[in-house]
Amino acid sequence: MHIHSYEKIWLALSVVLILLLIGSVTYGAVGPGIAMVADSQETLNPEALEEDERFADPRVEQVDDNAYEAYVVAYQFNFDPDPIVVPENSEVTFFITSPDVIHGFQVVETNANTMVVPGEVAEITVEVNEPREYGIVCNEYCGAAHHGMEGTLEVVPEDEYEEEHGGGSA
Ligand code: CUA
Repeated sequence: MHIHSYEKIWLALSVVLILLLIGSVTYGAVGPGIAMVADSQETLNPEALEEDERFADPRVEQVDDNAYEAYVVAYQFNFDPDPIVVPENSEVTFFITSPDVIHGFQVVETNANTMVVPGEVAEITVEVNEPREYGIVCNEYCGAAHHGMEGTLEVVPEDEYEEEHGGGSA
């Protein structure tokens, strides 16, 4: 049967296109220096937390009038800092990471509950009102002393917090 040279060109072109497609997919999967981006979660090197400005010195920082950020390291088998101290009537955003294995971070009696994965930063926000104490527990099995891995969130009166942390201009 006779095929027009015009059709031959189109056939050849479509074969080239298919090869290009296969080539680019293969390159994207195994090519040098090409990494899959998993999701939008921040990542950091769990073996170098002391070089990370947020986690080298786990702490609570005031970021707005009633807004605080807590940088917390969950490790076998504790939370740092412990206790985590914040003033009453504030909104606290926790950034939590782990240098060793997967832990949990649950502020008991609130809906704050997250998994803490080495190399990732978990973020969770809690609103606290009256001064009181909340327990913090690890709810991911992380080793022999998992059941004893507990921390405390201390919500203290505003004036007490100011005294301790020298906020204000007094
Ligand atoms: Cu940490 Cu269980």
